[in-house]
Amino acid sequence: MSAVRNVQVRLRNRPQGWPQLTDFDIVESSLPQVGDGELLLRHRWLSLDPYMRGRMNDAPSYVPPVALGDVMCGEVIAEVLESNNERFAVGDRVYGDLGWQQYSVRHGKTVRKVDPRVPESANLGAVGMPGVTACVGLLVIGQTQAGQTVVVSGAMGAVGSMVGQIAKIKGCRAVGIAGGPEKCRIVTAELGFDACIDYKAADFREQLKAATPQGVDVYFDNVGGEISDTLLTRMNDFGRVSVCGLISHYNETEAYRMKNMRLILVKRLKMQGFIVFDHRDYYPTALKELAQWVAEGKIRYRETIAEGLRAAPEAFIGMLRGANIGKQLVRL
Ligand SMILES: NC(=O)c1ccc[n+]([C@@H]2O[C@H](COP(=O)([O-])OP(=O)(O)OC[C@H]3O[C@@H](n4cnc5c(N)ncnc54)[C@H](OP(=O)(O)O)[C@@H]3O)[C@@H](O)[C@H]2O)c1
Repeated sequence: MSAVRNVQVRLRNRPQGWPQLTDFDIVESSLPQVGDGELLLRHRWLSLDPYMRGRMNDAPSYVPPVALGDVMCGEVIAEVLESNNERFAVGDRVYGDLGWQQYSVRHGKTVRKVDPRVPESANLGAVGMPGVTACVGLLVIGQTQAGQTVVVSGAMGAVGSMVGQIAKIKGCRAVGIAGGPEKCRIVTAELGFDACIDYKAADFREQLKAATPQGVDVYFDNVGGEISDTLLTRMNDFGRVSVCGLISHYNETEAYRMKNMRLILVKRLKMQGFIVFDHRDYYPTALKELAQWVAEGKIRYRETIAEGLRAAPEAFIGMLRGANIGKQLVRL
C-alpha cells in the first residue's frame, strides 16, 4: 500500500429531485502500490459537469450510473508523481476520468498527456470536452453554414459560451440565452455574441423575436423545457435543432410536455440528440483547432473555481442552479 493518504467524495444517496450535500460522503482512504505500467497521480483540477447529475440516478442511460458508495465520476487534470510506465515521466500532466478524489493509481493507458501549451485548466473546458461538444453540436449535428442565425441556450456556460464564439468565427449571427442580466452582458460584451436574452425576463419571447429578425437556422439546445419549446416557434423551414443537454429537466420529478411538436413537421425541422463521446475520431481535430483559437485570442473563456475537494459537492449543486459563470472547476 502507498504511504499517500487519499480523500474521496463518494455517492451516499440517490437524490430525488435536487441533490443535497447529504447525498455525498467525504472519506479518507489509502491507495494501492503502483503496479507495472501504472502511475501515481496527484489530481490538480476537477471538472464539474451537469451530466454527473444523471449518473447519480439509477436509471437506464447511455452509461451506467455511479454505484452507491463509489467515488463520483469526473474528468481530472493530474500530475504524475510516480511512474512505472515508460510513456510517462514524473511531472507530466495528464487528463483522465479519475473521479472526485485527490489522488489515484491508474494504468498509463487510461490517461493521456495534455498539451503543455494549453493553460492547464482549459483542458477541462474551452480546449476539452465542453469545447469539443460545442464543435460537434454546431458543425457536425447542426451543419451550420456562414450567414445563418444560431441560437444557443445555456450561453454563459462551459459549452454554450463556446458555441456562440465558434458560430461567430464561422461567419454566423450568434444569439445567446442565459439566466440574468450580468451573464447576458458578459456574453455580448466579452464573448462577442450579437445578442443575448435573459430567459428569466418577463418579455423573453419579444426579445427573442427582436434578436432573430431572420428567424433561426440552428438552435443548439443545452436546456430543453419551455425555452426550447418556445424556440421552435422561431425556427426557419428546414432548420436544425442540435439537442446537447436538457438541464432544465435534470432535477425535476415531472417531465415537461412539449407544446410545439407540430412545428417540427410543419417547418420540416431536423432535431437530433448527440453524445460527444460517440465522436472520438473528431476529438484530435477539434482540440487542435480550439487550442489555436484560444492561443490567437479568437476564443475567450471564463472559469468559476471552487477551492479544495471538500468544496466540490456545494460547487456542483451551485452549478446546477446557475451559480457558475463559464466552466465550473475545483482546484485541488
Ligand atoms: N451531449 C453531450 O455530449 C454533452 C456534453 C457536455 C455537456 N452537455 C450538456 O450541455 C449542457 C451545458 O453543459 P455545461 O457543461 O456547459 O454546463 P454549464 O452551462 O456550464 O452549467 C449549467 C448551466 O445551466 C443553466 N441552467 C440551469 N438550470 C436551468 C434551467 N432550468 N433553464 C435554463 N438554464 C438552466 C445555468 O445557467 P443560467 O444561469 O443561464 O440558468 C447553469 O450555469 C448541459 O445540459 C449538459 O448536460 C452535453
